[in-house]
Amino acid sequence: MTPSAGPNPSVVRKAFDTFATETSDDYEFRRWFSERGQWENYRMMYETLRYHKGDGRFSQYLEVGPGPGTWTRLFLRSDARFTLVDISREMLSQARRNLGGRANTRYVEGDFLTVKLRDQFDFFFSSRAIEYLADKATFVRRVHELLSPGSRGIVVTKNPELLTRRVQTLRGLPAVHSGRIASRDLVALFTLGGFTNVRAYPCVVNFPPGQKSFWLSRKIWERIYRQEMRSWQSPLVESYIVTFRK
Ligand SMILES: C[S@@+](CC[C@H](N)C(=O)[O-])C[C@H]1O[C@@H](n2cnc3c(N)ncnc32)[C@H](O)[C@@H]1O
Repeated sequence: MTPSAGPNPSVVRKAFDTFATETSDDYEFRRWFSERGQWENYRMMYETLRYHKGDGRFSQYLEVGPGPGTWTRLFLRSDARFTLVDISREMLSQARRNLGGRANTRYVEGDFLTVKLRDQFDFFFSSRAIEYLADKATFVRRVHELLSPGSRGIVVTKNPELLTRRVQTLRGLPAVHSGRIASRDLVALFTLGGFTNVRAYPCVVNFPPGQKSFWLSRKIWERIYRQEMRSWQSPLVESYIVTFRK
C-alpha cells in the first residue's frame, strides 16, 4: 500500500483550472455527456449512488472536489447546509453556476488537507477527487475529525486495477493521475482510521478491456453493483464506491 503516493497540490490546482476551461467552460458536459461511453458511465454511477446513498437524512453535508457540482445535485435539500471544498477556483465557479445561488451552500476554495473548516458534519461525499490527494492517511484523519458521531460517508474513486488502466500505468502516467488507490487499501485506511461498516462496491464497469461493449458492461454492472466488490471483479471495474460510518 502506498497511501502517500500522489501528485502535488499546486500541479493539481493548475490541471483542474485548465480542465475546467479548455475548449469550453462546461467541464460537466465534456466530462460526462459528450460521448456515448461517458454517459453510459454516468448512468451506472448515478444509479449506483442512488442505491447506496441511503435515506438522505443529514443536516450538515461536506463534499470534497465537487468540480462543477455534477453529483452534488443528487444530495441537494433545502433543509440542510452544504459545504463544498475544491482546490480549483474555475471548478467552483462552474459549481456555483450549475447549482444556483443557494443560501444554504458554502463554496470553499482550498486544498482539503490543509483548508480551515470550523463546522462538524454528519454526511460526507467525494467523487473522483481523492485520487488527486497525495496523502490518503491524512485525508481519512481529516474526514474523521470533521464528522460527528453517527454520521455517514461515501467516496467514489477510479480503480487503478481496471485492466486497461494497468496497461496505461505500465506505459507511464502523468503525475496528476499517479494517486489512484485500490479498494482493499482504501477500505483498510478507513477501518484503521476509526470508521465502521466500511464497504466497497463496484460503481462503473468497463468490459471487455479496450473494446468496451455498452450492452455487456451494463449487464455485468446490473449483476454486481449492489454487492460488496470481490477481487476477481476488480479488473472490470472502472470506479468503485466506499461507504462508511463514524
Ligand atoms: C475529476 S474532478 C471530479 C469532479 C466531480 N466530483 C465528478 O465526479 O465529476 C476532481 C475534483 O477534485 C478537486 N480536487 C483535487 N484535489 C483536491 C484537493 N486537494 N482539495 C480539494 N479539491 C481537490 C479538483 O479541483 C476537481 O474539481
